[in-house]
Amino acid sequence: MTINTLHKTPLETKNYHKPVMLKECLEGLNLKANGIYVDATFGGGGHSKAILENLDSTGKLFGFDQDADAKDNINQITSHSFTFIEANFRHMQKFLRLYGVDKVDGILADLGVSSHQFDTAERGFSTRFDANLDMRMNQSESITASKILNEYTEGELHKIFGMYGEIRNAKTLAAQVVQDRVRSRINTVEEFKNTLRKLAPRGAENKYFAQAFQALRIEVNQELEALQEFLEHTSEVIKPGGRLVVMSYHSLEDRLVKNFIQKGKFTGDEEKDFYGNLLKPFEAINKKPIEPSEEEQKLNPRSRSAKLRVAERLRK
Ligand SMILES: C[S@@+](CC[C@H](N)C(=O)[O-])C[C@H]1O[C@@H](n2cnc3c(N)ncnc32)[C@H](O)[C@@H]1O
Repeated sequence: MTINTLHKTPLETKNYHKPVMLKECLEGLNLKANGIYVDATFGGGGHSKAILENLDSTGKLFGFDQDADAKDNINQITSHSFTFIEANFRHMQKFLRLYGVDKVDGILADLGVSSHQFDTAERGFSTRFDANLDMRMNQSESITASKILNEYTEGELHKIFGMYGEIRNAKTLAAQVVQDRVRSRINTVEEFKNTLRKLAPRGAENKYFAQAFQALRIEVNQELEALQEFLEHTSEVIKPGGRLVVMSYHSLEDRLVKNFIQKGKFTGDEEKDFYGNLLKPFEAINKKPIEPSEEEQKLNPRSRSAKLRVAERLRK
């Protein structure tokens, strides 16, 4: 089945997204009024607006987002220091060069989906509404979640559910999807949930749904590949002494960020120079990730899983 008569949720920018750990992110960036900064995940613009309040007319902020809906929020920004770039942050360095920028003082990335994406039924990110299984952050891309479910091989589905959803019975789930899709394509949230219900542990159905949806979302948006490319570019783009501030919402992202900051490698391996010094571009400012206060978690339950890591670019 394909759902065509979807109710379009109005874009209410004030409810677009509540910025998480705003104060901690700003402190992490160690803002200078005349500095050049990047907000790699503009979303509702909450972090960007706060950064701009700390810049003078010589400072600059470049905001990236790959979702065309995010662009509608730039009309709330009046500062001439701001430039919006509708692009995937994996291409950050190339776009900055187009704007004549070689080095910046700090980069913020608040990873994952916005509340707007999650709460807009027809985007297909949420298990709460029935809709087509889309899940694309950039709606001009061609791979949707339903395409993956209906066209990937059983082996590929097994890998995605296991690696990105950390689902224990990933192999059985992949086989079930392949069996069910023969009868009719799995195009909607409800249709996929019907397949998931057959294998979900009793009493933990919602967690199982969430894991499977996370797996598809990561694959649709190539989230881990984009994050790795982006992180590699940050070491070339951030000035010595400049800051990298990354907030992640699941362990797969946080592991990459942690390994990159602490070891300079995504796998956690180490590379040392002739003298035994670790070869890495950043030094962690906090050994442990910063988490939202209890008060923030109460006010904004979606902040609960956030982990913030702050690092400083080492001088070569
Ligand atoms: C958690 S929200 C950011 C919210 C924002 N900090 C705010 O205060 O409103 C994440 C945003 O990043 C965007 N995004 C995620 N991955 C991206 C990528 N690889 N390139 C560009 N934008 C991305 C999403 O479209 C979404 O709007």
